[in-house]
Amino acid sequence: GSTLQAAASESGRYFGTAIAANRLSDSTYATIANREFTMITAENEMKMDATEPSQNQFSYGNADRIVNWARSNGKQVRGHALAWHSQQPGWMQNMSGTSLRNAMLNHVTQVATYYRGKIHTWDVVNEAFADGSSGGRRDSNLQRTGNDWIEAAFRAARAADPGAKLCYNDYNTDNWSHAKTQGVYSMVRDFKSRGVPIDCVGFQAHFNSGNPVPSNYDTTLRNFAALGVDVQITELDIEGSGSSQAQQYQGVVQACLSVARCTGITVWGVRDSDSWRASGTPLLFDGSGNKKAAYTSVLNQLNAG
Ligand code: G3I
Repeated sequence: GSTLQAAASESGRYFGTAIAANRLSDSTYATIANREFTMITAENEMKMDATEPSQNQFSYGNADRIVNWARSNGKQVRGHALAWHSQQPGWMQNMSGTSLRNAMLNHVTQVATYYRGKIHTWDVVNEAFADGSSGGRRDSNLQRTGNDWIEAAFRAARAADPGAKLCYNDYNTDNWSHAKTQGVYSMVRDFKSRGVPIDCVGFQAHFNSGNPVPSNYDTTLRNFAALGVDVQITELDIEGSGSSQAQQYQGVVQACLSVARCTGITVWGVRDSDSWRASGTPLLFDGSGNKKAAYTSVLNQLNAG
């Protein structure tokens, strides 16, 4: 394949990117995005603060711009994200207890129902585990409604859109030896054993020199897949440049390709200048839209299989 999506599809996988609605009018951006990627994640537009700015008043304008652009160009959409401790609308931030639990479940139900049939995969819950060595849950207003909030969100999402794949998504879960990775693994194993509806686990994969691509990434992906879920790389970016950056990207692609249930890779933006990282040139295209060495190494690795 001569594009990322064509090369990935040779092994039945997808290659995706995050899209910002307000950049779709930039023709360089839209041209690259349309040519290279086939799975689209809204970078911010489907989050709780964007879709429910006032309680029970839903707002889908910018999310729809992305979903309609994706679908009219023959692409699929990864919904991001139904429930998260961050980017909550102001009205939700100071809620607690039963009223927060019900507001969260209402949000999951309403948004997943609105997009029913249009979403390939939902990130149902995002970033619910703590950093550091505990391996436990992150403290948040949602967590304080009870440890079962995650499974409640998954059950509500399944009921609202039975056709969508339902994913748990997190960062710093790439290294198999990290406590956070083990904590998420235990939750997924528990969900599978009790029939909680979960189909996949997303690995955000935000890397830099302090948090490099682990050499055991394939082990992590393989062990999660062995629980009976698909795995995906969902927000890949790697700070750096030149051949060092290119090699690290290649390593991530290689790890995914080595696991049958690693079904796709999404990078978190199109050009370096579109990235949430202020510096670090972490993406596959430079600010002018030129292919970087990292692009070539990813394409070659996808083609090598
Ligand atoms: O749109 C407003 C603009 O009107 C305002 O003037 C400006 C001033 O602050 O803010 C703009 O909103 C910003 C938004 O990005 C759009 O640029 C928010 O402040 C800013 O917080 C937001 O950052 C996003 C971040 O999530 C928030 O948590 C990044 O774009 C987005 O890339 C990032 O994505 C997350 C994933 O959802 C989850 N995993 C980690 C990943 C990277 O942090």
